[in-house]
Amino acid sequence: MRFVAPFLLSTGAFALASAMVRVPVTKKATTLANRGLTRRDGASLPLYNDQSMQYIVNLQAGTPPKPFDVIIDTGSVEFWLATTGCPQSVCPVPLYNPSSSSTANVTTTPAGIQYGLGSANGNYVTDTVSLGGLTIQKQQFIAVTNTTDTFVMGGQPVDSGSVVASGLMGLAFDYGETWDHAAYPTIIDNLMNQKLISQAIFSIYLNFVNATGWSGEIIFGGIDSTKYTGQLSYAQVNTYTVQTTPQPTYIYWTVMSPSLTVMNNSVSVAGGSFLKPMAAMMDTGTTMSYIDVTTFTTIQKVLGAYLSPSPDSYGNYKLTTCNIPTSLTVQMGLLGSLQNSGASNSSNAMLTLRLYDMALKNPDGSCTFGFSTMNYAGGGSSFDWLLGDTFLRNFYLVFDYGNYRIGFASAVPSASSTNGPTGSGSGQQGGSGGSTRSAANLATTASLFVTLVCVFLSLHLTL
Ligand SMILES: *[C@@H]1O[C@H](CO)[C@@H](O)[C@H](O)[C@H]1NC(C)=O
Ligand SMILES: *[C@@H]1O[C@H](CO)[C@@H](O)[C@H](O)[C@H]1NC(C)=O
Ligand SMILES: *[C@@H]1O[C@H](CO)[C@@H](O)[C@H](O)[C@H]1NC(C)=O
Ligand SMILES: *[C@@H]1O[C@H](CO)[C@@H](O)[C@H](O)[C@H]1NC(C)=O
Ligand SMILES: *[C@@H]1O[C@H](CO)[C@@H](O)[C@H](O)[C@H]1NC(C)=O
Repeated sequence: MRFVAPFLLSTGAFALASAMVRVPVTKKATTLANRGLTRRDGASLPLYNDQSMQYIVNLQAGTPPKPFDVIIDTGSVEFWLATTGCPQSVCPVPLYNPSSSSTANVTTTPAGIQYGLGSANGNYVTDTVSLGGLTIQKQQFIAVTNTTDTFVMGGQPVDSGSVVASGLMGLAFDYGETWDHAAYPTIIDNLMNQKLISQAIFSIYLNFVNATGWSGEIIFGGIDSTKYTGQLSYAQVNTYTVQTTPQPTYIYWTVMSPSLTVMNNSVSVAGGSFLKPMAAMMDTGTTMSYIDVTTFTTIQKVLGAYLSPSPDSYGNYKLTTCNIPTSLTVQMGLLGSLQNSGASNSSNAMLTLRLYDMALKNPDGSCTFGFSTMNYAGGGSSFDWLLGDTFLRNFYLVFDYGNYRIGFASAVPSASSTNGPTGSGSGQQGGSGGSTRSAANLATTASLFVTLVCVFLSLHLTL
């Protein structure tokens, strides 16, 4: 695969005050137990923590509706489902069958998507798609009839448990599709266009690494204030400049970080501000979190003996203990306005992350550190950092599609849920854990951290 080097350009097109952008958010007064979301409040769907490597949601497609589990991925834009005709050898998953859906319209337009790892190809289709009780008419997606390194890796199915993803829901900005195709309405666009939600936002609560099973939540069109503490702090999303579209364009959920400081009991011990802000992409489709070498080295120095001195063959660092002292934290500044890029250290939001919560448990009981270096992820392309699940699960995240910003707050841990979605296609029994991957298969996937599913663009961005 070819990696091109797009440049992040700051722009005055969306002039914002340098002060932190705060807007009133709809905070529900009701408790979690009786929240009873209405359409105005949005649709809430449970998220399944799949071995802390990927997060899965259940939806329905077709008429009559058939349930499917799909990975949620803020790092790409296309939505796709493995479809009848995809060979069992590459798609050992429940398949969408357009010929048994009275509302399916399969086009002759070929579509494909290339991820950091893996690919999927097929044709565009439109069909009815339902999420958390909201029904979208004529949602376009890819009916995938061939995949590589997606459901099967090294000859082994990635998922063999009770919850098996049949595809992926890309939640990035709709411009992303136009690399290859004319833009078309994404799920968020259609939820708005068809007046199913009243705010163009979706909120993601992955829950902590120890919360397995159906224990997270995504809300389309709403925010659940019971799942975070403090206030949401918003950071402006970065734009990109693309050859075909000279004006700055929203593509990824990338925000700028002007600083990362390592703290020990609230005392700053390393790091500080950067020469230039780092572009940090928030990607639920990537398991690990990748940062630049200099920043990583700073954290490495503080962790000292807790971290193995060199990476394994996959570029990941083992921890010598799963219990990093909780006194050790990183504080990451976020900019609210691109106008400040490189010119100021002012942070509009400060995220605090305990390094303890960055320990990812391996099948053998050892732990891997949730940060690694960007080199391995093929970095230096359209962002400096790729912050995946190891980072994101510590925060409550509001992806504000309408106002091009991301809200962050410290997540509150909550108990693993006991029930999966009812009528799920893959027959979840509910309960935490759920997955019954074979040990050998799990070991393979855990060591590879396979879900690097952000899209690395194969099109030309301007320099
Ligand atoms: C199917 O899609 C094509 C291309 O978008 C469109 O021209 C056609 O009218 C659609 N057919 C139906 C039955 O909706
Ligand atoms: C599926 O994709 C692989 C890799 O690109 C290719 O070798 C294979 O021929 C494709 N299979 C089909 C049925 O198109
Ligand atoms: C899960 O992790 C969170 C965050 O570290 C912690 O607060 C919580 O007590 C843990 N829950 C269990 C059951 O261990
Ligand atoms: C953190 O600070 C304590 C003293 O408050 C010290 O004993 C400990 O070694 C420090 N840890 C690191 C990793 O610097
Ligand atoms: C940024 O921070 C550095 C170090 O704290 C300081 O020397 C410098 O004056 C700051 N720059 C601005 C523009 O605030």
